[in-house]
Amino acid sequence: MHIADGIVYIGVNDHELDLFEGQYIIPNGMAYNSYVILDEKVAVMDGVDGNFTDEWLGKLDATLDGRTPDYLIVQHMEPDHSSSLMAFTDKYPETVVVATVGAFNMMQNYFGTKFQGRNMIVKEGQTLSLGAKELTFIMAPNVHWPEVMFTYDAADKVLFSADAFGKFGALDVDEDWDCEARRYYFGIVGKFGKNVQAVLKKLAKYDVQVICPLHGPILKEDLDHYLGLYQTWSAYGVETPGVVIAYTSVYGHTKKAVEELAGMLADKGCPRVVVTDLARDDQAEAVEDAFRHNILVLATTTYCGGFFPSMHEFISHLEDHDYQNRTIAFVENGSWMPAATKAMKAITDKFTGIEYAENNVTIRGALNDASRAQLDALAEELAAKF
Ligand code: FEO
Repeated sequence: MHIADGIVYIGVNDHELDLFEGQYIIPNGMAYNSYVILDEKVAVMDGVDGNFTDEWLGKLDATLDGRTPDYLIVQHMEPDHSSSLMAFTDKYPETVVVATVGAFNMMQNYFGTKFQGRNMIVKEGQTLSLGAKELTFIMAPNVHWPEVMFTYDAADKVLFSADAFGKFGALDVDEDWDCEARRYYFGIVGKFGKNVQAVLKKLAKYDVQVICPLHGPILKEDLDHYLGLYQTWSAYGVETPGVVIAYTSVYGHTKKAVEELAGMLADKGCPRVVVTDLARDDQAEAVEDAFRHNILVLATTTYCGGFFPSMHEFISHLEDHDYQNRTIAFVENGSWMPAATKAMKAITDKFTGIEYAENNVTIRGALNDASRAQLDALAEELAAKF
C-alpha cells in the first residue's frame, strides 16, 4: 500500500474480535493501522492490538530490511494500539519512545515504566527531524483520550490523525466510508465535539494531502468531504434533514403506531424517515442516526412506572454522547397508567438546545381513532419543519 515515498503501512486486520471496545459490533472486522517512516532516521507510528503483535512485528521486520527503528511514536495509548508495544520495546531496546507526558503517565499505569533514559516527551508544535522529513506534533486531547496527539509530515503533506477519521471495518473489506465512520465517530469520539473542533481549527494551517488514521482506510482523495463531515459532526450540526423514530414495542401495538407515523410523515413530504427497533437493531447505528438527522421521535411502552429498558439504554447513550440541538417528540403507550413520556422527558430536559414537539401521542394499548388523530397531528407538525 503506497502512502508516500518512505512511508509504509504495517497495520493488521482483525476478523476475530466480537465487540470493539466491548460494545460495538464490527460485522466487517476492524483495522489497527501502524506505519513506518523510512528516512535517515526510522520512525514507527503506533502499534496494533496485542493479539496481532507477531504479525505486526513481522511486517515491521520485513519493512526495515535490517535497519533498527530510531523512534517509536505513540500518538494514543488505548490498548487497541498500545497492547503490542512492550513486545516492540523489548525487541528494540535502543529505540526512543516519543509521546506526550500524558501518554507516558499511561505507560506507567499499563506497562509499569515510562521508559526513562529512552523517552522523548513532546508538546504542541514541537518538531522531530528524521532527515528529509520533519515531523510536527499537534496535540489533540480527548480525540479520543486526553493523551492523544496527531503528527504532521510536511515533506509529504501527510497527517497521522490517531483515532480521528477512523472507521469500523477491516481494510480487506470494501464498504461505504461515511456510514461506518459516522457510527465510529459518534460512538467513540462523539462526546468530545469541542475538542475535535479545536484540533480541526489547528489543522487549517497545515497543507494536508493524505490522512493516515489508526483505523480505516488511508484517505488521499476528496479530503474536503471527510473534513466537512468532521466539521458537521463535531459541531453537532445536521448532516441529513429527516426524522428518526426510535421505538420499543412489547406486543406490537407501539410498533404499529410507529409504522403508521412513518407512513404519515412520508405522505406529508418529510424528506427522510428512519425507523429503528431499539431492542433488536444495533444501538450504535440508532445513535449515529439520531445525530445525523434533526428530529427524533422516542416511542416506547410504560414499564415499571417508567419506560422500557432498551429505550433507557438508548437515551443513556444520547446523554453520554452529549446529544443536543435537535427536536424531540414522544409517543408513549400505557395500558392503564401511561408514564413513559414524563419519565423520558425528565432525562432529555438535561440535554442542551432541545426543542420539543407540541403534539405528543398517548396510546392506551391498541391504536384507535383518537390516538391515530394524535399521530396525524404530530406528523403534520414535524413535516412542517422541512
Ligand atoms: Fe483506536 Fe481510542 O483507540
